[in-house]
Amino acid sequence: MEKITIALTKGRILKDTLPLFAEAGIEPVENIAESRKLIFDTTLAHVQFVVIRGTDVPTYVQLGAADIGVAGKDMLLEHGAAGMYEPLDLGIARCRLMTAMMRDQALPRGKIKVATKFVNVARRYFAAQGTQVELIKLYGAMELAPLMNLADVIVDIVDTGNTLRANGMEPADTIADISSRLVVNTSAMKRKHEAITDVVERLRKAVTARETVSA
Ligand code: PRP
Repeated sequence: MEKITIALTKGRILKDTLPLFAEAGIEPVENIAESRKLIFDTTLAHVQFVVIRGTDVPTYVQLGAADIGVAGKDMLLEHGAAGMYEPLDLGIARCRLMTAMMRDQALPRGKIKVATKFVNVARRYFAAQGTQVELIKLYGAMELAPLMNLADVIVDIVDTGNTLRANGMEPADTIADISSRLVVNTSAMKRKHEAITDVVERLRKAVTARETVSA
């Protein structure tokens, strides 16, 4: 079959991704967690993994450096989905993209300061609400921004809500339900149809098998 590259999101998502790929019969031939390498052969001779930051996965797939990617829906919403198909919800790394603010604190009248790394998502969301905002781009620790009077509201990923609670904040509105998705480069889908369809179908079966067990 044609050689294909799958871009995986490192960190928390990777811990959920590898067992699912193993159930689909695709495993790295060495331990990713114990290696400083970025490219890994797999038990399918024609398939390799690259392990990169979640924010970079849509870029790799859109530009065709990777044929397939595993990316959080949050990253896809922020980056945009041009040049990619999204054939499968992997059902892993589920969480929500939410607004949040300090507990028991009223919002100011007029423009609201919003700190987030999801500036495109936030811009669209507040525009649709008809709310005037000033967006402040941050790269981490969004929960700190209201505490330090940098922002009134944050837009961030909420899983257990523990991070918000620990910093005196509470979730407000859900912008989107998030999980990891399989994305495929549209032109690779045509050129490498057999190999890509094989991977998509293996994963589709693995996801369905999990749903059947948990139903
Ligand atoms: C995410 C997010 C929150 C936290 C939410 O950060 O930005 O800080 O998880 O999880 P919780 O609701 O269970 O507390 P992550 O740890 O993924 O690190 P990041 O800031 O690098 O994305």
